[in-house]
Amino acid sequence: MYLTKEEEHIYEGKSGESLRRAMEILVALGDIYEAKRLIPIRSVQVAGVSFKNIGDAGLEWISDLKGRVTVPSILNPAGMDLQHWKDMGIDEEFALKQKKVIDAFERMGVSADCTCTPYQIYSGLAEKNDHLAWSESSAVSYANSVIGARTNREGGPSALAAAIIGKTPNYGYHLDENRKPTHQIVVDAELNGSDFGALGFLVGKIVKDGVPLFHLRNRLNHDELKALGAAMAASGSVALYYVEAVTYSPPTCAKPVEKITIDKKEIDEVYELGSRADADIVALGCPHCSIAELKGIAEMLSGKKVRKDLWVCTARKIAETCPHLVKKIEESGAKVICDTCMVVSPASQRYKKMMTNSGKALVYLPSLCKVEAGLGSTEECIQCATEA
Ligand code: F3S
Repeated sequence: MYLTKEEEHIYEGKSGESLRRAMEILVALGDIYEAKRLIPIRSVQVAGVSFKNIGDAGLEWISDLKGRVTVPSILNPAGMDLQHWKDMGIDEEFALKQKKVIDAFERMGVSADCTCTPYQIYSGLAEKNDHLAWSESSAVSYANSVIGARTNREGGPSALAAAIIGKTPNYGYHLDENRKPTHQIVVDAELNGSDFGALGFLVGKIVKDGVPLFHLRNRLNHDELKALGAAMAASGSVALYYVEAVTYSPPTCAKPVEKITIDKKEIDEVYELGSRADADIVALGCPHCSIAELKGIAEMLSGKKVRKDLWVCTARKIAETCPHLVKKIEESGAKVICDTCMVVSPASQRYKKMMTNSGKALVYLPSLCKVEAGLGSTEECIQCATEA
């Protein structure tokens, strides 16, 4: 990979050890993927934050890091609500180590907003055609597909290295040639809300790391696009998709793309997977809820009391923006949980069966948390939580 004089300087350690280590990671990555050069990035989102996932080895690695980030950088969800972790049943030892992880990132200048939906709280992190180095798969999918920015799915170390240098190797989804659709998906049904999570669950399995172009009967809102991309990134590894007449148009296809039709019966079958009726907890907010989603949940819970645990996961900044909605939701006995989620927190493992409205959580709860999962619409989830 070609390096400018200044980049070579850093690579040789003439600008200090922390910059050298970061540059070494980027050059190694660039060489592996045959990038021709480094490109400046606008922002970074760093995954590998939950102590549940990184453990003592990760904490040690992060604590040893020196240096400061040079572009706006934000953290993915942690393993607990950073303020109300006791309410989640998190033990002191875990909490202490999780706080050390957050402190280490903050010392480097990374913002501890801890969300997989940074685009819901800061508008300046990504715009069309910006190059980014984001990590969390649903955030990457949203950035590439809905915002029209360009990012690969970074690992924790490569995202941090990019944040320190302010650049990333130019390969993968940064290049036009890798942004062409590989599959056309025709959906022969009107869909709503969690149906898009179910659709993503199906399509991710089919296209794997392809780039699907959807032809849908109805227009999706931003929350539905978020749910669709998140599920495809989990059941497959889709990092970019298009929806005809909704997202930006794809570059011209160089080769014919495979065409797949999905009907309502296939969508309905996703709701039949896993457990629903005898769930002992209900969790919403994967990816983290927007204000509009909190509003919808607050309205559905109005005048009701929950009879089993109901978690509503969101970013702290979103919760702080609408305390009246948080209050309304919590009046029912549900908990609004910030900074974390049902997948990255060890708190989920106290439960046997979880009902969710998220196609992504449907994939990860059994595989990463050993918790059975069932998919329902938001209304069905609220009903499950409030009815005896
Ligand atoms: Fe976000 Fe956790 Fe789901 S990080 S996308 S809420 S698994």
